[in-house]
Amino acid sequence: MIITIDGPAGAGKSTLAKMLAARLGYDYLDTGSMYRTVALAGLRRNVNWDNPTELENVAKSIRLDIDNGRTLLDGEDVTDAVRSQEVTGHIRFAANNPDIRLLMVNQQRAIAERLAKAGKSLVTEGRDQGSIVFPDAECKIYLTATPEERTRRRLSEMRQRNESGDFDEILKSINKRDNEDVNRKIAPLIRPKNSIELITDGMNANEVLERLCEIVGKC
Ligand code: C5P
Repeated sequence: MIITIDGPAGAGKSTLAKMLAARLGYDYLDTGSMYRTVALAGLRRNVNWDNPTELENVAKSIRLDIDNGRTLLDGEDVTDAVRSQEVTGHIRFAANNPDIRLLMVNQQRAIAERLAKAGKSLVTEGRDQGSIVFPDAECKIYLTATPEERTRRRLSEMRQRNESGDFDEILKSINKRDNEDVNRKIAPLIRPKNSIELITDGMNANEVLERLCEIVGKC
């Protein structure tokens, strides 16, 4: 069984996909971390970002493994390193590159195939999982929240880390990222055909998990 969870940045996909996978005893795949790893490798190798071939060559030359929710770059655990602002700022060079996307999509399908052969199921999250990578998945979810709700959540996470943030500035950056994901030429963020949309405004993570379990129970 494959469950896909797609949706915009900050909708809580990673947290919820992880919680759902743990509840169901499924494997979990964070496909955003794969694009992040390519961007990190590009930064480390000092590629010329104006020349897409350089990043493509990096993507082809690295070993990228996803193991138990950890992301490995040539064997090094980069799960935390790929979340840096610097990586986020360069991710579009990986995510908007058709050759790099093809590599990632093939690897995602190979992971699912390997799991299926071992009798295991998968919860996979990203932007294109239900639309392009696994269009025939048994259960496709589109997880979203309004930009204002996502801004409030981001602010509350920041407060917990004793950081301060400005509502309007965060809202602006969330809208910018949405625009980039929705309007890009290749694999834009869309609500996949036959997916079930869950708008999570006003819900906490446990409430969303319960709704997801109900949805999965009906798939
Ligand atoms: O989910 P996360 O924020 O880690 O994803 C980082 C970026 O990678 C997103 O902004 C998106 O542009 C890209 N991405 C993608 N396709 C996916 C997952 C992520 O293009 N399947």
